[in-house]
Amino acid sequence: MELSNLKTYYFLRKGLFKRLVVRAVDGVSLVFREGEIVSIVGESGCGKTTLGKTSVKLVEPYDGKIVFEGKDITRMDGDLKWFRRRAQIIFQDPFQSLNPYHSIFDILKEPLDNLFRGEVDDPTEKIMKTLEEVRLAPPEEFLYKYPHMLSGGQRQRVNIARALIVDPKFIVADEPVSMIDASSRAEILTLFREIQNRRRTAIMYITHDISTAKYFSDYIAVMYAGKVVEYGRTMEVIKNPLHPYTVGLIASVPEPDPENRKRFRPVIGGEPPNPINPPPGCRFHPRCPKRFEPCDKIEPQLKEVEKGHFVACHLYE
Ligand SMILES: Nc1ncnc2c1ncn2[C@@H]1O[C@H](COP(=O)(O)OP(=O)(O)OP(=O)(O)O)[C@@H](O)[C@H]1O
Ligand code: SF4
Ligand SMILES: [Mg+2]
Repeated sequence: MELSNLKTYYFLRKGLFKRLVVRAVDGVSLVFREGEIVSIVGESGCGKTTLGKTSVKLVEPYDGKIVFEGKDITRMDGDLKWFRRRAQIIFQDPFQSLNPYHSIFDILKEPLDNLFRGEVDDPTEKIMKTLEEVRLAPPEEFLYKYPHMLSGGQRQRVNIARALIVDPKFIVADEPVSMIDASSRAEILTLFREIQNRRRTAIMYITHDISTAKYFSDYIAVMYAGKVVEYGRTMEVIKNPLHPYTVGLIASVPEPDPENRKRFRPVIGGEPPNPINPPPGCRFHPRCPKRFEPCDKIEPQLKEVEKGHFVACHLYE
């Protein structure tokens, strides 16, 4: 999966004639290779979910290119089935993402019916195997249960099974553990690791918490205000963070936003940027402790400053 200069804007109407543009993703280029996990890290509102949704074509990009298995799928509207079999997304909230009136069996059978009509010889066996793979075992015990009968962690396993059942090559996991209790988190992350090892799936792991990315991913892309500001091998970024924002993220532990339990903000001073009117120059400059002369005028570009380690900051030019 290759994203090139991807831009996703939301257009909001303000009154009769005015419209506002939310630049949620504003020029992101990233590659996701077989068997690798790339973490997308950043605070609330920086565009992580929008990036994930755009890459699996749940949201249309405004500009840029998405190439998957060599095919340009940016504007592929008609035969999305081919792509849906290969690219899946798992959402943050295990309570809202499952239909409460469907049994686990029905939930897992639905993607098979929609995407593989008649092509799977024994759907029940496939469902049982997938339940085993996500450690909902013995599967017979779960088949005819309903979501409300399961714990948060178990529901998230059902979500993972629903994505896996089509044997995808690329999975977006959007904060898959942020809403489940701490005791199940490590197990679910371990499960993703196993999936990646066994199936060689490429995974985009979205998180506001750089500490989970540390144990889990091969690469880290730090996003700020719709852009990637730092990218590199996980240990390289964690041990040797170069962008002042990444330094702040590593030093701070994210706190739940008291007004919205789904949102998190890191403990970095100053207001996060407004995606409708991002500041000129470096988007981080109003909060940056290291800002200097050109920072409020010229926008820094992502550059390779050490081998495989990319940063967008005037300090490294
Ligand atoms: N459907 C939409 N219409 C308009 N604006 C949107 C829409 N979805 C997201 N946005 C805005 O786009 C920006 C990026 O949102 P996004 O959900 O991608 O961020 P995020 O990094 O996933 O945040 P969080 O960590 O809170 O999940 C935000 O300013 C958000 O308010
Ligand atoms: S470009 Fe300037 S303001 Fe932006 S992160 Fe680097 S030093 Fe800070
Ligand atoms: Mg999000």
